[in-house]
Amino acid sequence: MKIAITGKGGVGKTTLAALLAQAYAEMGRQVLAVDADPSPCLAGALGFPETLREQLHPIAEMDDLIEERTGAKPGTVGGFFTINPRVDDIPERFSVLHRDVRLLEMGSVDIGGSGCICPESAMLKTLFTHLLFRKDDILILDMYAGVEHLGRATVDFVDAMLVVVEPTRRSLGTAAQIKKLANDIGLSRLWLVGNKIRNTDEVDFLSNETPDIPILGTLPADLAVQEADRLGVAVYDHVPALHQAATIMANSLLAELNNDL
Ligand SMILES: Nc1ncnc2c1ncn2[C@@H]1O[C@H](COP(=O)(O)OP(=O)(O)OP(=O)(O)O)[C@@H](O)[C@H]1O
Ligand SMILES: [Mg+2]
Repeated sequence: MKIAITGKGGVGKTTLAALLAQAYAEMGRQVLAVDADPSPCLAGALGFPETLREQLHPIAEMDDLIEERTGAKPGTVGGFFTINPRVDDIPERFSVLHRDVRLLEMGSVDIGGSGCICPESAMLKTLFTHLLFRKDDILILDMYAGVEHLGRATVDFVDAMLVVVEPTRRSLGTAAQIKKLANDIGLSRLWLVGNKIRNTDEVDFLSNETPDIPILGTLPADLAVQEADRLGVAVYDHVPALHQAATIMANSLLAELNNDL
């Protein structure tokens, strides 16, 4: 099952990605979590210990590897390079495993046609497509806002695109834009996840104002989330309310996709 998580900046994409990854790992599923944010922080949200975090580097920043695989130095524009480099060994070689969650840092991913034609984008594009083709049990992609950077492979292989929103009009406006872009590329398997919810009024607001996307679930606002970040521990371990809500959501998604254990 392949899950992509998107939404406006700061709404809680990384928090949700970490929670779902750990919820599925706890159910005994094999989880590969991919941090596709230009400034990776999923390792922190997963509570990876410092020694493991030191082993992680975004593939986008591995200049030597990109040169070795594409035949050209990153930053080169024009000239010759392989647009379909070998990437099949990368997920195992450069990911780190902690408590049954395997994490790969990709770095910034510009998959659509608008990105530069350069060795690093060829590398990331090929890797991204490879990840979508792989037969991982559960793949969780922590993306950044928008879907315009997503290509054909995403539409064909992503089982669920989760759009994280806060209970604000502005956040729902972004969700509406994401829905439109998703429609434009033919992606219809979209769910909304409300985050930082303080009361039932906010749940009602989401249900009434949602831009016609089904709500998968909500996560409560809890100051302990920031505390977990300060302490360098996983929200999953530190905040029972979010742990519980995420487990319910993980199960709902399996049910929605008929992907039972
Ligand atoms: N349910 C919650 N309750 C309280 N604070 C939260 C909650 N979820 C996330 N936060 C806080 O909101 C901030 C943003 O969360 P997070 O990093 O998960 O968002 P993001 O969408 O991945 O951000 P970015 O767009 O920068 O990648 C963090 O400081 C996090 O601790
Ligand atoms: Mg993030």
